[in-house]
Amino acid sequence: MKLKLILLAVSVWPISMVKAQQVDVAVAFALAAKQTDVLIQNVDSARKMKPNLVSPRTVENGQFKMVGSKDWTSGFFPAELWYFYQYTKDKKWLKLAEKYTEDVKPEQFNTGTHDLGFMIYCPFGNGYRLTGDPAYKAVIIQAAKSLSTRFNAKAGVIKSWDHNGDKWKYPVIIDNMMNLELLFETTRLTGDSSFYRIAVKHANTTLKNHFRPDFSSYHVVDYDTLTGKVLQKVTAQGYANESAWARGQAWALYGYTMCYRETKNKAYLTQADGVAGFIINHKVTPADGIPYWDYNDPKIPEASRDASAAAITASALYELAKYSASGPKYKAAADKILHSLSTKYINQTGSNYGFILAHSTGHRPAKSEIDVPINYADYYYLEALLRSKQ
Ligand code: GLY
Repeated sequence: MKLKLILLAVSVWPISMVKAQQVDVAVAFALAAKQTDVLIQNVDSARKMKPNLVSPRTVENGQFKMVGSKDWTSGFFPAELWYFYQYTKDKKWLKLAEKYTEDVKPEQFNTGTHDLGFMIYCPFGNGYRLTGDPAYKAVIIQAAKSLSTRFNAKAGVIKSWDHNGDKWKYPVIIDNMMNLELLFETTRLTGDSSFYRIAVKHANTTLKNHFRPDFSSYHVVDYDTLTGKVLQKVTAQGYANESAWARGQAWALYGYTMCYRETKNKAYLTQADGVAGFIINHKVTPADGIPYWDYNDPKIPEASRDASAAAITASALYELAKYSASGPKYKAAADKILHSLSTKYINQTGSNYGFILAHSTGHRPAKSEIDVPINYADYYYLEALLRSKQ
């Protein structure tokens, strides 16, 4: 009898906990869709005044902020529309996604940034996956060619930024891992393995130089392209050179999970497992699973959170759960984050100009975008919702 009671307690408690953490994806998508209807109205009115500003980025000091196609975040808004189409199969979303995707198309020729994965692959990659439109395929291939021009064989990495030449020579940021998906896909589409080889080389060099023994990542690693040596390891968006900037850790997790999917190289899976451990087990993160903007900000617990880092992490963990021996733990952690985002970080319908999530931190050291809604948080939130169902 005693044994029976114990068994009952052991089996019932975790199940009810899991249920409490589960998000109703249909409800969450319906709410997000209502918000996005509001966002689209705001986008359309803003564009009447300034047609060159194509994509909604954030709300700062109460002002709705639109950006041009050159902004690194320009692809997230059209990419969100593709996710609504994927989930609903409603032609309304297809038409909207097609319409706003066209606005970022010129960036396929942009060789001045590494962010083409975000700008082009998020909208066009999803568009191609969902429609098979050959015009989208051509844009993806051109973007991969543009991105490849930034690869340096001696250093073995793709250059991230051309700006701030007084601070670094050949800066590579951990975020750059996210652009490799565009290259892997382009090898699949063209049969040209050079894109794949650049992606693998970049991932290997980054694995060697970007991480500390505890699997946390530096933000910026600066290379000497004559010798291939590392010149310095610093930060741009984090609290300090030796701190762990939350979104950087999320990019690392997502990046190596994706690289494992594409290559099946066990070293990438080990890396993703290590980064997941750093994020999930970190003592400073509050019980809701949404990290502070930097794990080492001495102002914690007064520091701002970063819902975008949480959304990226949740999406990555759902995928990593499929490959890793720690799958159930990752799924539970992702469920917790998604539940928190959907209950505590969600904007009320009609508020915040139609952005879905609140409480992200864009660039704290620059005093920019602190505790705000931001388009990439919304994009990875929708992606996490979709993945949570799979
Ligand atoms: N890739 C820039 C950022 O995460 O803010």
